[in-house]
Amino acid sequence: EASPPLPPLTAIPETLRTLSDYERRAEHHLPAEVWRHIQEGSGRGITLRENRAAFDRIGLLPRALADLDGSTAIDLLGRAHAAPVMLGPVAYQRLAHPEGELASVRAAAALDVGMIVSTLASVTMEDIAAAAIAMAGELGRRPAPLWFQLYLQPLREHSLQLVRRAEAAGYEAIVLTVDAALKPQGITLPPGVEPVNLAGMPRPRQTAVPGGRILLGTPLAQAAPGWDDLAWLRRATTLPILLKGAVLGEDARRAVDEGVDGLIVSNHGGRVLDGVPSGLELLQNVAEAAAGRVPLLVDGGVQLGTDVVKALALGARAVLIGRPQMHALSVAGMAGVAHMLLVLRTEIEAAMAQLGCPEPRLLCPERLVALS
Ligand code: FNR
Repeated sequence: EASPPLPPLTAIPETLRTLSDYERRAEHHLPAEVWRHIQEGSGRGITLRENRAAFDRIGLLPRALADLDGSTAIDLLGRAHAAPVMLGPVAYQRLAHPEGELASVRAAAALDVGMIVSTLASVTMEDIAAAAIAMAGELGRRPAPLWFQLYLQPLREHSLQLVRRAEAAGYEAIVLTVDAALKPQGITLPPGVEPVNLAGMPRPRQTAVPGGRILLGTPLAQAAPGWDDLAWLRRATTLPILLKGAVLGEDARRAVDEGVDGLIVSNHGGRVLDGVPSGLELLQNVAEAAAGRVPLLVDGGVQLGTDVVKALALGARAVLIGRPQMHALSVAGMAGVAHMLLVLRTEIEAAMAQLGCPEPRLLCPERLVALS
């Protein structure tokens, strides 16, 4: 029998030095069912494995004697970000820690890192924004950008309510996730963990039709977003819109034609369609198609500073991290997430310095080599 999960640590031990240290440790701080839910990939886990393996197949070519006077800062949609990293949208963070998204956003604000808040957050988007503003205020600076990740709801008026609430709470962009239309939720939520932003709205059907088959023509498939929904959203808000999960060059091009302001190249952490190539490989298709018209972000398997520089060299402006947030939250709450982000930022700095590259925008494919 599994022993009960350990409580979150109150201090960060010296043995926690990398994001994989957090991952290993997290298993002991989470109920078995939650650990499995966070870690799982769909199907045989091909995409989940590829997300990491794709980074490991790429080598780096350092430039000697370079001038290192620069920084890790980037510009994204007209805002400065201290590092080319954001916390990606991860649902139900109170599964990992009682403070959930409040702990993550405070950590992000403390490290001046942006966060994308899920529609399925377990804290209201207003409370999350208020926590970010309060933390930035304590530190005497403007809060790092907060973006709202939208899952379209069965009724447009409900999607619109979510967008209006995000605008009112100061979110700076809408991330429309389009790769998980038919995804079942995958976990039974314990008491106290709920999609509080959707209170009063009918819950979208979370499970497949009886018999375990998903048929086109079921209510689930009918609720899946289409291009008309993107056009509607474009008319409904003046906030920048980023599309998360469009990975074909053709779809990326069309999305940009339809007024999308950025693309997040993602296979949803290998959790939806198994067999999709890694985020890093998809990035290369999309970068060709988008041809520099909008900024590209990528996620899936990012764990190291060297992963981040590889993604940037292949055309990403920034990367998102998913699971490592939940790992760090479960191990040590806000302090864990803040430390995890500090580790990653420090590794990015080290990787850039070791490569002889003083600015993220100077990273280019010529500095990469395929490893055999
Ligand atoms: C996710 N992801 C996700 N994406 C999204 O757009 N909305 C969401 O609510 C969620 N929820 C969610 C929950 C959990 C437990 C995981 C692991 C992932 C996908 C997430 O944003 C991101 O694309 C991947 O997690 C990136 O891969 P890594 O960093 O986890 O390897």
